[in-house]
Amino acid sequence: MTVTSEPLVYDPYAYEIHEDPYPTYARLRQEAPLYRNDERNFWALSRHGDVMAAFRDSERFSNAEGVSIDPAASGPHAHRTMSFLAMDPPNHGRMRGLVSRGFTPRRVAAMEDGIRALTVQHLDDCLAKGDFDFVADLAGKVPMDVISEMLGVPQADREMLRKQSDLLIHREEGVTDVPPAGVEAAFALVIYYADLIADRRANPGDDLVSALCAADVDGDRLTDDEITSFLFLMVVAGNETTTKLLAHAWYWGDRFPGERAKAFADPGRIPDWVEETLRYDTSSQMLARVTTADLEFHGQTIPKGDRVLLLAGSANRDDRAFADPDRYDLDRDREAGIASFGVGRHFCMGASLARLEAHVVLQELIKRVESYEIDPAGTRRVHSVNVRGFESLPTSVTVR
Ligand code: HEM
Repeated sequence: MTVTSEPLVYDPYAYEIHEDPYPTYARLRQEAPLYRNDERNFWALSRHGDVMAAFRDSERFSNAEGVSIDPAASGPHAHRTMSFLAMDPPNHGRMRGLVSRGFTPRRVAAMEDGIRALTVQHLDDCLAKGDFDFVADLAGKVPMDVISEMLGVPQADREMLRKQSDLLIHREEGVTDVPPAGVEAAFALVIYYADLIADRRANPGDDLVSALCAADVDGDRLTDDEITSFLFLMVVAGNETTTKLLAHAWYWGDRFPGERAKAFADPGRIPDWVEETLRYDTSSQMLARVTTADLEFHGQTIPKGDRVLLLAGSANRDDRAFADPDRYDLDRDREAGIASFGVGRHFCMGASLARLEAHVVLQELIKRVESYEIDPAGTRRVHSVNVRGFESLPTSVTVR
């Protein structure tokens, strides 16, 4: 590691952290495994053991104020846009129990053919163009289509929904809360979802929104507000993160051609390509919690009621858990467990769906594409507090 006397500052809003957070994470793990940022009023845990233990300890690390540090998206009202991700028991279990029926292994496996058909359709368009933008033309489309199919959102509305959800998470440099464009996007989504729910209440189909409208939870029905907040969660949790996973696989495959060659030579290695990408550069970099008791870490006390960030992106690069962690290596041992989907009560409900989508998209790409290149000059990042990834990856391919 490079020794530096620069003061150690971790600010999840800083553009240089979005560019490359990993050197700062390495210093945090080494010099300040319990880090305090007074200006932004949070603590951060960065070592694999601490992050995983905190994820599991959902009694003392509460989700009730949400997982973001944006003032507008955190606090006791966070469940309005993040549904049960921003709840503790018993409310968490009530909502998650209802929705998880849509995510059983059988339901997810049954989606494979549909995901493949959507992928092939978008891939045909990409290859017909010659050069294309991997994010705008493919990685951004498949996850939104898959969620839209689950929810019963018509084809014609999907592009608008994707644009609004991008606006919801985008942050200009120096902006440390949901900006006006994000607030407008949220209003547009609320209006859209209100119409969708009203339509499903009147004309039920076999989609998840209709199922939630009809669901009976110990005698109560879900309100429109509860269903709307779940739809917000699905779009942000399921759409943005999966798009970024795909784009990261593509990007790191371009940067490390020897590693991607393993999957191109043997598509059976695609799951390793996906798992190593999830570890090496996860789209979900950090999740916030609030402590419900005074907690001792590394000789310091985090007072009850304080905010703590669990740095999943850093846990995945901890050499206490992964040998030579900054090496992108499909063959490595990941037995210690990646932090990318969380663990415990809030473990990502869409993890197997996200993995399935990534496998199918990469399988279809490898079938049709012999090699590819990304134009570094046109590569652009998204700027967001929790989500890391690309907005644009201009790609040229040699087809088979
Ligand atoms: C690569 C893609 C994805 C990543 C990296 C990811 C990451 C995560 C993480 C880290 C959590 C835990 C948050 C916490 O502990 O506070 C989570 C929760 C969740 N994810 Fe995902 N996710 C992905 C894809 C999806 C997909 C495709 C869906 C659904 C379509 C989804 C739905 C959810 C839901 C509903 C929760 C809340 C679970 C709860 O609070 O009980 N995610 N996700």
